[in-house]
Amino acid sequence: MKTTAQTQFGDFQTPIDLACQVTQFLIANGVSPTAVIEPTCGVGNFLVASIRTFGGGIPYHGFDINPEHIDIARDALAGQEGGCYELTCENFYDKDRTAFFRSLPEGLLIVGNPPWVTNATLGSIRSDNLPKKCNFQGHRGFAAKTGRANFDISEWMLIKLLESLRGRQATLAMLCKTATARRVLRHAWNHGFDVGEASLHGMDAKQSFGVSVDACLFVAHTGGEGHRQTAHAYADFRFTDPVATFGVYRDELIADIDLFRSVEDIDGVAYRKWRSGVKHDAAKVMEFKPDGNAWVNGFGERHCLESTCLFPLLKSSDLANDRLQPSKYVLLTQRQVTDDTSCIGLNAPRTWRYLLTHGDALDRRRSSIYARRPRFAVFGVGPYTFSPWKVAISGLYKTPVFRVIGSVNGVPIVLDDTCYFIPCETREEAVFFCSMLNSDIAKTFIRSLVFFDAKRPITIDVLKRIDLKKLAARMNLGAKAASYLTDVVFEAGQQPFLTFEK
Ligand SMILES: C[S@@+](CC[C@H](N)C(=O)[O-])C[C@H]1O[C@@H](n2cnc3c(N)ncnc32)[C@H](O)[C@@H]1O
Repeated sequence: MKTTAQTQFGDFQTPIDLACQVTQFLIANGVSPTAVIEPTCGVGNFLVASIRTFGGGIPYHGFDINPEHIDIARDALAGQEGGCYELTCENFYDKDRTAFFRSLPEGLLIVGNPPWVTNATLGSIRSDNLPKKCNFQGHRGFAAKTGRANFDISEWMLIKLLESLRGRQATLAMLCKTATARRVLRHAWNHGFDVGEASLHGMDAKQSFGVSVDACLFVAHTGGEGHRQTAHAYADFRFTDPVATFGVYRDELIADIDLFRSVEDIDGVAYRKWRSGVKHDAAKVMEFKPDGNAWVNGFGERHCLESTCLFPLLKSSDLANDRLQPSKYVLLTQRQVTDDTSCIGLNAPRTWRYLLTHGDALDRRRSSIYARRPRFAVFGVGPYTFSPWKVAISGLYKTPVFRVIGSVNGVPIVLDDTCYFIPCETREEAVFFCSMLNSDIAKTFIRSLVFFDAKRPITIDVLKRIDLKKLAARMNLGAKAASYLTDVVFEAGQQPFLTFEK
């Protein structure tokens, strides 16, 4: 079990064997440092591994916020032959690293494993182990609220390290989450840091740290000639057979640039608007299984509710496993986000009483999206939620599969907020789009853009880039597609393509 202190400081000490594998990998690939720095050195395994690998003729500098770690590191280094080292108990956020790096010769190696903790986790345990400006990526409003502004503090540290290395010849080699490494590189590329060759090398975080996350050794060289905007991802600590080359291509971060180039002709605008499913939370209150004339909620309570607000529900796992006959129903209190929920008292009085009885649980829903909205409100509802047909995909699974979703006894099936869909008016239309989206070319396009280690790999941002007109043309289905894609009435509103077409 992790202690609060361990959580707060993202404290996962690197096993010495893994630290040695990293330093051996670096020396085997030409890294021959003039000095080694471990910015959050913990008990010092990376410093020990570095001295063993690079020898005693160069200085070694270790820093950590935890004085006990520094004491242990000091003992560990004292046992190494010849190393000239300096260990300092210091908070990462307090250091002027630019000046420090300038005081050292060119050819530095910055190695280690920065803390594995997100700002959200730190917020939840009221820790102040955070940089002063947390929202450094500049997310505002909804993005900040919905977690796009959530980041690993290692992301912030790695960016600061690369920033301080501008104009300095150095190698940064750090263990971190794969998503963190990518975000750091994207930041570096977008902000013109002088990062040259960079690579990600997969590792087994479960085996080394007991955590199930996609992690890697992130290596980046700075201060060399020529900046790049691509990096290779490898399965392990080798430079053979890259799994993918990702990078910035026409201002966008692309997961596999070569794959993308093979299908980029279908990159375009969203002729149909992609929608998310509904968000309701408090699933035990809002979800039911039908039982004769009654409805059984997640607490096992039977209630005789009007069917007015109950809709068959499918979730990501249902879509992914082709379970398209809903076994659950969801209580939707609104047809649009602006609806006044108290009308339910008139139209469906038993449902209203049920909501009042379970009001406490619903009032406790934590997401700030419910704040200043009618009591019992849901989120992500609109006319599209109730379209009779949909082409839907789960945002959570690694295999992109689109499904045709219809209705049950005339009641439209709705999806939860882990799914995305295009609303359709007829089955024929949904089947048509579904077959196009399940084509090899569309799936290749998605695979080229999507980082499958992300928690929610498939996003609306990816889906809306599939240009259905161009896809149809490539599949010789242009004429049929035109009949559906000129019909903007069903999708009236502020569609992105209208802006693009302007
Ligand atoms: C993931 S551990 C890795 C330790 C060491 N680098 C290794 O590879 O074994 C992260 C380390 O960061 C240290 N740390 C956390 N927050 C820090 C901060 N604000 N300043 C300096 N060190 C910090 C922790 O004490 C911990 O030793």
